[in-house]
Amino acid sequence: MVKTNEWTTVSGILANFPQFVETGKNTALCSIHGEYTQTTYQNGRTTNCPACERARKEQRITEENKKLEEAEKERKSRRIDELLGNSGIPKRFQGKTLKNYQLSSPEQIEVFNGVVAFLKEFKEPQGHSGRCMTMLGNTGTGKSHLACAVALCVIKYYGGTARFSSVSEINRLVRESKSYNTKYSETEVIEAFGNYDLLIVDEVGIQSGTDAESRALFDVINARYQNMNPTIFISNLNKDQLKAALGERIYDRIKEGGGVILGFDWDSYRGKQ
Ligand SMILES: Nc1ncnc2c1ncn2[C@@H]1O[C@H](COP(=O)(O)OP(=O)(O)OP(=O)(O)O)[C@@H](O)[C@H]1O
Ligand SMILES: [Mg+2]
Ligand SMILES: [Zn+2]
Repeated sequence: MVKTNEWTTVSGILANFPQFVETGKNTALCSIHGEYTQTTYQNGRTTNCPACERARKEQRITEENKKLEEAEKERKSRRIDELLGNSGIPKRFQGKTLKNYQLSSPEQIEVFNGVVAFLKEFKEPQGHSGRCMTMLGNTGTGKSHLACAVALCVIKYYGGTARFSSVSEINRLVRESKSYNTKYSETEVIEAFGNYDLLIVDEVGIQSGTDAESRALFDVINARYQNMNPTIFISNLNKDQLKAALGERIYDRIKEGGGVILGFDWDSYRGKQ
């Protein structure tokens, strides 16, 4: 038979610790909550008003939650700064929003609605459809402004990643990846461009590239097409010139699955400011 000694029962164990051995109960008065039963222990410790204890505990939890929330906010804003820093969005465009894009003609409103519809897809439960959006038109009509506004929304409000780039930058990064002392391999560069939730390719058709360059652009666009990630193309060319500049294979992909081509056919905003 097991011998019961003072170490085999809970009360037996507690009896060895004076801070747990009750020596009496009495009625005490809390200035806020009134009377409560106070317990005294062998070591002289007395219990406090249970309602006050509960309030203190709740306050501690609220404070801890607040601290956690602040830390989370801080982490999020650091991440946004980081993403904006790495987004390639030029400083000039970091304050450009949909709100501060002025609408003064029906054509502008139509284009603007097209941009908003494209943006809204990011918050759909199944994510963006991956269709492309192409902005064609004269200089100063606000193409870069609107594209950057979309990228800023993706980063700030949808917690996504966005990258503003240009055909020449993509080509330069791919070209550099092929040199001998490179930090990234060509595959890594293509993969990185392929993975952003949104990629903006500005200045399409500024210079006619080499065959290797149009292959690099195709690889990036194709990676995004495979991943079903949307891309915004920006150009001063018209549709026919764009088709010639991009080549049939890319041109096909930018129109696939609801891809839109928006014409910015109005006067330059530059000089109006
Ligand atoms: N409708 C508008 N409302 C407010 N600002 C505008 C509008 N259109 C253009 N802007 C401003 O005008 C300037 C030129 O616009 P932006 O650079 O976006 O033009 P763009 O079409 O990209 O021109 P480019 O083809 O030369 O690159 C920017 O500072 C932009 O914020
Ligand atoms: Mg521009
Ligand atoms: Zn109390």
